[in-house]
Formats: sequence, structure tokens, C-alpha cells
Amino acid sequence: MLKGLNVIVHILTLGKERQSFIGARWVESILRMAPEKYKRQLALTVLSLSPHYFFRQNTPEHLSLSHAEFIEKEFERNSSSREKLCAQVLLPYLNDTQAVLDYGCGPGFLAKSVSRHVRKVYGVDLSKGVLECARIINGSSNTTYLHTTQLSEIEGGSLDLVYSFAVVQHVTDSVLKDILVAMHGKLKEGGKLIVHIVIDEEKWKIEKEWRRDISLRGRLKWKYGLNCFKRDGEDVRKMFESAGYTSVVIQPMKELCPEQYDDVQAQHLIHAVR
Ligand SMILES: C[S@@+](CC[C@H](N)C(=O)[O-])C[C@H]1O[C@@H](n2cnc3c(N)ncnc32)[C@H](O)[C@@H]1O
Repeated sequence: MLKGLNVIVHILTLGKERQSFIGARWVESILRMAPEKYKRQLALTVLSLSPHYFFRQNTPEHLSLSHAEFIEKEFERNSSSREKLCAQVLLPYLNDTQAVLDYGCGPGFLAKSVSRHVRKVYGVDLSKGVLECARIINGSSNTTYLHTTQLSEIEGGSLDLVYSFAVVQHVTDSVLKDILVAMHGKLKEGGKLIVHIVIDEEKWKIEKEWRRDISLRGRLKWKYGLNCFKRDGEDVRKMFESAGYTSVVIQPMKELCPEQYDDVQAQHLIHAVR
């Protein structure tokens, strides 16, 4: 019964674009109209409806928590893991004169940490609902959250750094190529691109295998579920080079963050220069 209800809520909150969880226009409108004193709790509740950000099942001690306790615990876990990612991975590339872009920023935890070290942050995502949550829980005076359709608001050749964590594994090759080209256009000459990628997760399938599964379950997962693709490192390198990037280097995340605090650490980073 509860599972059936969850599926209905999941489908009702989907946005127009593929993989746009909590992206429905009405989700954004309700968050905007909510009285100020309820906004934060409503935003955290909305985030708990997406498969991306808050996880109850993975953490046994979360199972016994009330909803209010669970969303606060997950808020703290996300804040702390993104603070560490900022300190361990991005900080060496940041300074207070820079404009940077967080691609697939989700609820803005990493954008908020980064905003303390740079002049300007753009957080870009394809879900209108999650962007509104980010504005509520992780807003700051030098951060602007934009939908992917609003990229024209960022001047071409104006960014020092574009980074993206836990995002490209959810997009197809054709979408990834478009993202790489779009970001190339926004970066300054010599600007840096840092992207987290999944290349060796044993149990994950590549995009071709997902497409090959034409069973009813496979097709429903493709259309409504969270898609997660692993990739071949060399193919990704070629994709970056074809989009115009140079000095493309793939590095295990473990070299930068040895302490395990999030699943992104078991993966790789790809560094490139415009
Ligand atoms: C797992 S979350 C990661 C959020 C954030 N980067 C972090 O590390 O905390 C993945 C995010 O990517 C966004 N996303 C997925 N496909 C996208 C696309 N094609 N363009 C922009 N954002 C996308 C999702 O809406 C979601 O917010």
C-alpha cells in the first residue's frame, strides 16, 4: 500500500524532462507559496521524495527515526559530505576572484560550501523543484540557482571553473556530449572542468545494456526510474577531447579523499582544460 503510494507521488512529482525528479512545476510553485516559517521543513520533505539525495534504507539507524528526525539527519549528512568534498577536492582550485558553475547542483550543499571561497557560484540543475529547495536551504548572496534552460543568463567565456559531482552517471552519452559543449562555451580560455565519473562500478551497467532491456520492468525503469550508467574511461576521455578540452586526466577519487564518507569517493575524477 505504502509502496504504491510512493510510486504515485514519484510519478506525480516528475518534471517534463527525462530524469527530472521532483521537477514538476507545481512542486516549485508550492515551495514558493509556502509561508516562510514552513519553507525549510517543506523543502527537506520534498527532497526526501527524490531518489537522489536522502536515503533511509541505506542507513539502518535511520529506519527508526521519525520523518522530522530523518530529514534533519540527512540534511546534516549531505552538508558534511559536501563540505569535505569542497575542502579535499575543489579548494586548491578556488579563489575569491572566480566565477564557477556547479553542474547538476541538486539541493546546493556543495554550491553553498564553494560559495564561501569564490566571488560567484551558478548552481545549474534540470529539476525545478530541487532548485527551489536549494534556494531555500542553501541560498547565499553570491549564488544563483538556474534551470538548464536558463544557461543563456551566464555570459560565454566568463567562468573560471565548472565542476560536477554525482551527475553524469545519470545522463546518456548524447546528453553528456551536449553538456560538455555547453560548458566549453561558458568557460574562459584556460578555465578548468572537473567532473566526477563512474567507470568501474562492477554491478552497474553501461547505457547500451540499459537500452537492451526491453522487458516491461526495464522500460519502466528507463522512463520513470533513476538511470545509473557506468562508462569506459577511454571513451569518456575521447568525448572530452572531441568537445574541445585539452590536458584530460582521469584520477581515482581515493587519492584526494582517502577517508570513506560518501559513495562518490569510490569513483574517479576527470580533469580537463578549455
Ligand atoms: C545525485 S544528485 C547530485 C547533486 C549534487 N551534485 C551533489 O553532489 O550533491 C544528481 C543531480 O543531477 C541532476 N541532473 C540529472 N540530469 C541532469 C542534466 N541533464 N542536467 C542537469 N542536471 C541534471 C539531478 O536533477 C540531480 O539534482
